[in-house]
Amino acid sequence: MIDKIAVLTSGGDAPGMNAAIRAVVRSAIYYGIEVFGIERGFEGLINDVIFPMNRRSVSDILQRGGTILKTARYPDFKEIEVQKKGAENLKKRGIGGLVVIGGDGSYQGARALSVNCGINTIGIPGTIDNDLAYTDFTLGFDTAVNTVLWAINNLRDTMTSHDRVCVIQVMGRNCGDIALYSALSGGAEGILIPELPLNIDELCENIKNNYKTGKTSNIIIVAEGAEKAENLKVIIKHLTGVPVRATVLGHIQRGGSPNNVDRMLGARFGVKAVELLKEGKTNRVVGIKDNKIIDVDVVEALNIKRVFNKELYDIAHILSL
Ligand code: ADP
Ligand code: F6P
Repeated sequence: MIDKIAVLTSGGDAPGMNAAIRAVVRSAIYYGIEVFGIERGFEGLINDVIFPMNRRSVSDILQRGGTILKTARYPDFKEIEVQKKGAENLKKRGIGGLVVIGGDGSYQGARALSVNCGINTIGIPGTIDNDLAYTDFTLGFDTAVNTVLWAINNLRDTMTSHDRVCVIQVMGRNCGDIALYSALSGGAEGILIPELPLNIDELCENIKNNYKTGKTSNIIIVAEGAEKAENLKVIIKHLTGVPVRATVLGHIQRGGSPNNVDRMLGARFGVKAVELLKEGKTNRVVGIKDNKIIDVDVVEALNIKRVFNKELYDIAHILSL
């Protein structure tokens, strides 16, 4: 029976991580489990920065972006001796379970702690990239897309005033979902993502046609995993002859107050993670499928291949013409 657990955030931060931390802490206390926070992900675990948390430790954080536990990338954690040291720091306090909030890299760390060191671990998908195939959505994705929509609106205003094309580069690593969702919801005229090749001639023809038919601002969304905005700008300018500007949105997409979707996900994922630890489960990750909270074996989850949402892509294309 596990009566002490800990929680950490790891990898890139994401809006909604604080909502998940709050849910882990408060649900653990609700179930009579002592709960500890670990600062800076696996780095803090190794450096023994582990402290008790109570209901008040997570007051006034629900609406805040980032993570109160801080986060880090700590490549040394791939070594088994380092993992064992981390596990010792938990075991000497009687902590038998750990909630890891992060992306696929963090999940590997959680799995290693479970398999190599006997710590029960549960993962919560915290990344803006939406690149984990076993879950419909990751924590932070929806807020990040809304941040991109805000940027598209502002850029649209000035592009319309000047009759310009704007190429906007968004995050997502090798996943095109931030680009796909924001292009569709933002009414973009073009989209370039890693999952599909772009027909640049067709895109430039559309831009020229748009000018002929009176639409003089064009927004092109490019995923960072597909191309750099600056390169696409040069090509479009060359093929169309129209004025083009490029904007890289960068880390603005990672911050900000989590929206309703991400606060709900944080709450639901956090409570589920604690319930799984309470039941003695390990090596599992939580997610959402068809609006139901699910849990999946971590290896199985990491092996599921992402299926690109071609339907959304086609809708975005039809509406962009
Ligand atoms: P994310 O979790 O967002 O995918 P990273 O890929 O940077 O972010 O991984 C976060 C951290 O998880 C790494 O810095 C490292 O501490 C840990 N990690 C990543 N891969 C492994 C692995 N194969 N084994 C153990 N720990 C890992
Ligand atoms: O994984 C989240 C993410 O924001 C990616 O979209 C991006 O490529 C990367 O992290 C940026 O990493 P860093 O914060 O190290 O610059």
